[in-house]
Amino acid sequence: MENFSYITPTRYVFGRGAEAQTGALAAAMGCRKVLVVSGGSSARRSGLLGRVLDSLREAGIATAELTGIRPNPTDDRVYEGIDLCRKEGIDGVIAVGGGSVIDTAKAIAGGVPYDGDFWDFWAGKAVMEKALPVGVVLTIPAAGSEGSGNSVITKLDGMRKISLRTDSALRPRFAVMNPELTFTLPPEQTAAGVADMMAHIMERYFTPTEGVEVTDRVAEGVLQAIITEAPKVMTRPDDYDARANIMWCGTLAHNGICGCGRREDWASHGLEHVLSALYGVTHGAGLAVVFPAWLTYASRTKPGKVAQFGRRVFGITEPDDSKAAEAAIAALRSFYGSLGLPLTLGELGIENPDFEAITAMFHRDKGTPFGAYISLAPEDTEAVYRLMV
Ligand code: NZQ
Ligand code: ZN
Repeated sequence: MENFSYITPTRYVFGRGAEAQTGALAAAMGCRKVLVVSGGSSARRSGLLGRVLDSLREAGIATAELTGIRPNPTDDRVYEGIDLCRKEGIDGVIAVGGGSVIDTAKAIAGGVPYDGDFWDFWAGKAVMEKALPVGVVLTIPAAGSEGSGNSVITKLDGMRKISLRTDSALRPRFAVMNPELTFTLPPEQTAAGVADMMAHIMERYFTPTEGVEVTDRVAEGVLQAIITEAPKVMTRPDDYDARANIMWCGTLAHNGICGCGRREDWASHGLEHVLSALYGVTHGAGLAVVFPAWLTYASRTKPGKVAQFGRRVFGITEPDDSKAAEAAIAALRSFYGSLGLPLTLGELGIENPDFEAITAMFHRDKGTPFGAYISLAPEDTEAVYRLMV
């Protein structure tokens, strides 16, 4: 096991009606005027946005709003939010939505106290040391941004989708999590969320680090809970307990607990971010195509951990590692298929991709070579993309 430092300062306020506490939680962060960031329409339509604004008002907190954040969020809305915060004297940011809204809120929060271009942090030209406090009202279990220190933004110039990972600067101070808010999710978003949270665990699980039994077992347990609960939410969208379990799994998948003491990989996320930047696909749906392809390629040279994953998570009994790894990947694909997720680039709506170009984009953003469980040089990366057809 490797040395590690683990911080998860977020207060999770979980359960029915939890959004009524937003105002008190924002007041506890010391805020007097907050920017409320939200997505296209779901939060307004359901009445959630109104309830959050009421709760803030009742706590004596003034508000300004930035609405209409779209999936795979872009830098233009971040600049707009930073300008608005400065003009309005904002001292905190509240995200009402999913990963796209939360990541935009985080980027604004990091950009306001910084004199330069906020993108400097994403481009690796500056290190973020401070940010306005961020609070979250989560509406979709998927990206795990409610508990992570990350923010993923696409720069429109060059369509670069980059994940900034901070240790603590961007971790939300609180995350309000009411599973009932997820009853309205369309099935394809529920399923994509499941694929995303599984990928967050697996990016950490497939590691070259030995001797990480406890973190392996935590990861395997959360994966098994997802595999048990996901079919329930797909057939009964208003099953409170199943929704609650999936919601908490999404947080545990990405708040760092599944990565303690080990090197993490994250190549699959980089491979997917190229696809969602270029083709606008839903991140989790993209991962349902990417992850099994990466796993297939990885297991050709390193089948051992893939076999362990198959035996412990899917109950595969095959004694030979290579055959067990093959069965594990088939089981993963079959699970994704049962949720209605795409399994190929074609099913994702990507016809005749330029493999050389997307490979070059991946290495432009991630460097060469990239990956911890296996190391991807450009020829490996292209081979993984070609396994997705
Ligand atoms: O915009 P609205 O109308 O709200 O619709 C949204 C959106 O169309 C809808 N939705 C959300 N909650 C709903 C709902 N519809 C009905 N009822 C509800 N309760 O769902 C759609 C997707 O929303 P989005 O915020 O894009 O989803 P998600 O949470 O999957 O976030 C994806 C983004 O997060 C990034 C991804 O790359 C992508 O840009 N990620 C962020 C991470 C992080 N910050 O730690 C890690 C992840 O790996 C990921 O990369
Ligand atoms: Zn993800």
